Amino acid sequence: MNDGARVYVAGHRGLVGAAIVRRLERAGFSNLILRTHAELDLRSQAAVDAFFAAERPEYVYLAAARVGGIHANNSYPADFIRDNLQIQTNVIDAAWRNGTQKLLFLGSSCIYPKLAPQPLHEDSLLTGPLEPTNQWYAIAKIAGIKTCEAYRRQHGFDAISAMPTNLYGPGDNFSLENSHVLPALMRKFHEAKTSGAAEVVVWGTGSPRREFLYVDDLADAALFLMRNYSAGELVNVGCGEDLTILQLAQTVAEVVGFQGRLRFDASKPDGTPRKLLDVSRLSALGWKAQVPLRDGLERTYRWYLEHQGDLRAG
Ligand SMILES: NC(=O)c1ccc[n+]([C@@H]2O[C@H](COP(=O)([O-])OP(=O)(O)OC[C@H]3O[C@@H](n4cnc5c(N)ncnc54)[C@H](OP(=O)(O)O)[C@@H]3O)[C@@H](O)[C@H]2O)c1
Repeated sequence: MNDGARVYVAGHRGLVGAAIVRRLERAGFSNLILRTHAELDLRSQAAVDAFFAAERPEYVYLAAARVGGIHANNSYPADFIRDNLQIQTNVIDAAWRNGTQKLLFLGSSCIYPKLAPQPLHEDSLLTGPLEPTNQWYAIAKIAGIKTCEAYRRQHGFDAISAMPTNLYGPGDNFSLENSHVLPALMRKFHEAKTSGAAEVVVWGTGSPRREFLYVDDLADAALFLMRNYSAGELVNVGCGEDLTILQLAQTVAEVVGFQGRLRFDASKPDGTPRKLLDVSRLSALGWKAQVPLRDGLERTYRWYLEHQGDLRAG
């Protein structure tokens, strides 16, 4: 993969896609092919086919997806399963048909069974029932992994799959309704600090353990895998460490400078007690995360302060 290669990053304005673009630019890639959702709706097979036939990208990062928290998944199950199946099927098929050398598909840790042993190993895929709230999204992602595997087996297409843990960083979604736990906490603490509130209520007991990876680390892993990995087996991408929601909330509050009380509302659901990826496969390949949580939170908060007026933060 030389730095003059034609590289298409699908979803380049999203949290992950933007970080992949930053990483590729830093590595000297000068021939990036980028299209916004408005310019190219990846749900349209005809539009995707025409785009690939015209641009013929050599490498593809598939970071476009319909993404959201529990509420969005629960409210729009049909949209989640349909959009993700369409996007990934159209892109993987068009990439293969138009001579793309390699494609990286991004899934998520929700593909693993709800009760799979922790830390979650890649071999747990399809060994038990999924968490029901986001099963629509998870089923689509599992189909994406299997599509990559099938195209590799039948056509020899070099499609690989990476499963990131929870991600955070610049470009995250800070809306209160649709965001993940970390940006939601950051925004709540920021608003409490600004308004002088004495207390912030955090959902759940604070005891569940979660893992968080800075999105630029994920982008680094994505480039690493594109350069160094070619096999059908999926690869988890995480930092290999978790912490409780209480510890996370305390750290975010410190970074934001909120000095009031944290109150945990135990009447709200906790979700699964622990979610940590087993990253031994990726570690054995020679990659590890670089950005400690606190540094990542500080960079993310700086980004939030600079972009509060933007739509995504609104
Ligand atoms: N965020 C996480 O914690 C996390 C964790 C694990 C895995 N991942 C995976 O990483 C990938 C990207 O996630 P993300 O967090 O970067 O999501 P995101 O910020 O919502 O970005 C998704 C991107 O896809 C684009 N997109 C959606 N539908 C499209 C369509 N029909 N046609 C063209 N573009 C479309 C969006 O454009 P618009 O905004 O204009 O619609 C957006 O730029 C997903 O596969 C997700 O499963 C994310």
